[in-house]
Amino acid sequence: MDKQQLVGLAMEAREKAYVPYSNFKVGSALLDSDGHVHQGCNIENAAYGPTNCAERTALFRAVADGKTPRTFRAIAVVGDTPSPITPCGVCRQVLIELCAPDMPVYMANLQGAIIETTVAELLPGAFTQNDLNGGTTD
Ligand code: THU
Repeated sequence: MDKQQLVGLAMEAREKAYVPYSNFKVGSALLDSDGHVHQGCNIENAAYGPTNCAERTALFRAVADGKTPRTFRAIAVVGDTPSPITPCGVCRQVLIELCAPDMPVYMANLQGAIIETTVAELLPGAFTQNDLNGGTTD
């Protein structure tokens, strides 16, 4: 699966967004180590705070489906933005928790512009599990 295909699946997921407050649909597609794709959309809430971004929906869906954290191959995110959409700070923290630091992140818009980065580039100096209790935990 190439990055254009993964972005295409993020565009498909975007159509499922539940966005009665912002009317701003976002879609995501996460490629796992078996070559399966987990799609996510943003899901909003009248209390605003409980809103879940598309990227987190895809990540949480994959983990809940039994996929092992930090074995994912790539994630795509797409929104109707002038430049490719960029993940929010909360999603960056979740990405660094559940994905390998060098995992590719494809940021895209509806015009098909794609910027490729990595999880680590999106969150320099991240607080991670290695900072907790002086060691790694699962
Ligand atoms: N949103 C995402 O789903 N992903 C992003 O990368 C940026 C923002 C959502 C959250 C909210 O539902 C809407 O876009 C407006 O912020």
